[in-house]
Amino acid sequence: MKRIGILTSGGDAPGMNAAIRAVTKTAIHHGLEVVGIRYGFAGLVAGDFVPLTAEDVDHKISQGGTFLYSARYPEFAQEEVQKKGAEQLRKHGIDAVIVIGGDGSYHGALALTRLGINSVGLPGTIDNDIPYTEYTIGFDSACRTAMDAIDKIRDTASSHHRVFIVNVMGRECGDIAMRVGLASGADAIVIPERPYDIKAIAETLKQGFADGKDHGLVVLAEGVMEAEDFKNELLKYGDFDARGNVLGHMQRGGSPTVEDRVNATKMGNYAVNLLLDGKGGLAVGMENGQPNTHDILDLFDGKHQGDYSLLDVNEEMTKN
Ligand code: F6P
Repeated sequence: MKRIGILTSGGDAPGMNAAIRAVTKTAIHHGLEVVGIRYGFAGLVAGDFVPLTAEDVDHKISQGGTFLYSARYPEFAQEEVQKKGAEQLRKHGIDAVIVIGGDGSYHGALALTRLGINSVGLPGTIDNDIPYTEYTIGFDSACRTAMDAIDKIRDTASSHHRVFIVNVMGRECGDIAMRVGLASGADAIVIPERPYDIKAIAETLKQGFADGKDHGLVVLAEGVMEAEDFKNELLKYGDFDARGNVLGHMQRGGSPTVEDRVNATKMGNYAVNLLLDGKGGLAVGMENGQPNTHDILDLFDGKHQGDYSLLDVNEEMTKN
């Protein structure tokens, strides 16, 4: 193996640049050449490649987004398109690829491995929704950003004695909502993986005001419903003043936290060593703070398990 490629795919996440940096520096240390593939699998098929040096990644560890750019490219599910991608890699002498992205990206990494280009996936998504890993790159930064935003929302909620229902990202996964809800002192955390009782939530909020609280806060995972719809449902059971708020894509931006930088660096370094050992078709994850691997095929059958004890802790403190 002489030359490896690296790409970022799907929704961007803070820490992707730190992972690209770690891959580049580790590979160069082992005498490999590194090629950045821009715009994810779309750029792979188009042959949008740039050589990467250690200097190119020197100032990237603190930057949000991905300097290789990203794209959602469902066309890569087609075998013909996958073959075109593999041909581009062969044409440019690229022997192996590291893919940083969400679960969709793993299908691409597996397809390339099956076409003879060893590929390894790194979990890069703010959603923390990937099976067999306790952590995905960007999750901690997104939680931090959402928590900071909610702290500001609480100020205005308190001034007006209002209830705010705040939508956080995560697709069908409630991990961001659980962590941010607990960190923000929410009266209720609502996620897609668990049933909820909207009448009971309204009672909790009413009781809060009756006890002298000056605001109410519901942290709502986007996979449940829109904040505005939840507010309308909630108001059927309580006559408080309420507003819905969608935090949206701001959660994907900003400089990565220490945890994201450190974990992205560890996993990027680990992934290069897997390729040096001639391995492919693997997904890197974190377990007890250390990188591990699983067969990508296992991921397709697996289901991410969140830390649902966070909900229990919150309920014990907030329910009437
Ligand atoms: O997967 C990351 C994520 O930010 C989700 O939390 C969100 O549902 C989705 O991407 C938004 O996608 P897009 O940027 O394509 O609107």
